[in-house]
Amino acid sequence: MKNLRALLGVSLPVGFLLAAGCEQPAPPEAPAYLFDSRVPLDPELEKLKKAGDDPSKALRLAGASDLVKLLEPGKRYDYVVMPNNAMVVAPKSVDASGNFWSHPILANGGAVKAAGHIRIEKAGGNLAKVIVDAESDSYCPSQESLRSTLASLAAMKVPPDTLRVESRQIDCWRRDPKPVASTSTVLPRPSFGTVMLSVARRFEVLGRAHRAKRSDLALYQLEEIEETFRNEIPGTPLPPLPPGVSIAPFLETMSTFNVPDLRKALESKDPKAVLAAFESMAKTCNGCHTAAAKAYIEVPNTPGELVPKLDPKP
Ligand code: HEC
Repeated sequence: MKNLRALLGVSLPVGFLLAAGCEQPAPPEAPAYLFDSRVPLDPELEKLKKAGDDPSKALRLAGASDLVKLLEPGKRYDYVVMPNNAMVVAPKSVDASGNFWSHPILANGGAVKAAGHIRIEKAGGNLAKVIVDAESDSYCPSQESLRSTLASLAAMKVPPDTLRVESRQIDCWRRDPKPVASTSTVLPRPSFGTVMLSVARRFEVLGRAHRAKRSDLALYQLEEIEETFRNEIPGTPLPPLPPGVSIAPFLETMSTFNVPDLRKALESKDPKAVLAAFESMAKTCNGCHTAAAKAYIEVPNTPGELVPKLDPKP
């Protein structure tokens, strides 16, 4: 190319040079997303210090071996990716008692490229999986931010085939940020089990309403179930799940297949279609319970029975 330019004795337009794939510097990369914290830092720090902890104990990961050395397998830890791509991880797992670490503390209140949880799995002393998500109700990062997380891990020489992404979408912006002052009154969110109780009751009433030929009532219950899966469940903190399990596929099947299928059946008032769609939905309920290691919460697959099953086992 230099020769060509020298030969022509003119400077060629940039577009031509790029198109010719030569030594011109690559165009600058698009800036990475940065997220600001939605909660003030000071009250967070105060809580941490009151618990006798110290923000300087945050783990600054330097390489893949740090992951194995510093994190207990199967436990989830808060992490942030700083604007300089450094990954900072809480020294206590999210379920550890007396854990007052939070994403703003790890980032010292500043903007981050990513914030969420990190969990490792080991096999024979080696790193088998590194699982990350973008769940942070102080930063509300997008799923896209996980690219920065993966880039930071790759830069630490974490083997690419161990990297896994977990989609735990919390609909942050519909929610107020975490309470920061002890004086603020915040309604406690219902637990996953409590939300499930409403789904269970509605599924039971739906079945009984269908049996009683009260099809409007059955359709109403289905609408309510649909709303619960669409609006409430995604924002409800998950109970502890077995390592590596994601319940997202069951939610997806519920909304994209089971609900519309049962609605069509109920509207058609075809008893056979209703039986089939009801059974199919119950299968998704039970599939998720089994995945969540709660197979003993058995949903009956015929309308009219109690939910969950309570009849004596054979
Ligand atoms: C996406 C996964 C998922 C789907 C789909 C699902 N469940 Fe659940 N369900 C759970 C989990 C997880 C629990 C345990 C909650 C806990 O441990 O707090 C649960 C708990 C329950 C409980 C026990 C509640 C209690 O605390 O007593 C019932 C009853 C129940 N589900 C019924 C249903 C019915 C009926 C459906 C289908 C219409 C359904 N579930 C669909 C995940 C799911």
